Amino acid sequence: MQRRLHPEQPDGFEFSPSNLAWAKSQIAKYPAGRQASAIIPLLWRAQEQEGWLTRAAIERVSSMLGMSPMRGLEVATFYFMFRLSPPGSVAHVQVCGTTTCMICGAEDLVEVCRRRIAPAPHQVSEDGKFSWEEVECLGACANAPMAQIGKDYYEDLTPEIFEGILDRFAAGEVPRPGPQNGRYASEPKSGLTSLESLDGEAPAASPSVALALEMGDTVALVGNAEGRG
Ligand code: FES
Repeated sequence: MQRRLHPEQPDGFEFSPSNLAWAKSQIAKYPAGRQASAIIPLLWRAQEQEGWLTRAAIERVSSMLGMSPMRGLEVATFYFMFRLSPPGSVAHVQVCGTTTCMICGAEDLVEVCRRRIAPAPHQVSEDGKFSWEEVECLGACANAPMAQIGKDYYEDLTPEIFEGILDRFAAGEVPRPGPQNGRYASEPKSGLTSLESLDGEAPAASPSVALALEMGDTVALVGNAEGRG
């Protein structure tokens, strides 16, 4: 799967004052000569500020870390967590298309994306709200098929449930992430086969879902607070 920079790029990039202060605090965590280790958090913060990762942002971050621009580009184009095209204004949807999810129906989810969002990955929907892409395994294989929307996972999906989730995002809601078929986490749908005495004692939400609900930043960007634009 090729990952290329978007053909249309802004002229420049600068961190906002608060994001710049945060970036400097991250760089200071590393010993002298090891500042390049901060590349992932700084690229992520640049993406959080702008909504996607521009060439100018990659070059600016590389320069801050004393790296050649090519090394920054290597990192940015390797990881799916970095968006190289402008996303939809509400959410970028990443459907896992690797083996387990594919066997369990990922192709039907991709079909929903093609019909509901845009015919091709990285295209923004007509209403400007969504974009999508197919990605490699997101590590939630026991809850296949699944998709990452914004920062959180939506698991145990069917095309109907997936489309309902997109409807709710389009309406300005943030649906509860995690398993969508009634499972607590990744236990057997038919019931526990070990630690059965704990059945019914689990909290209402698994730790990851509880954290997502507590943070409430599924589709929020850091830059929003300072007037992203
Ligand atoms: S195969 Fe989809 S999460 Fe692993």
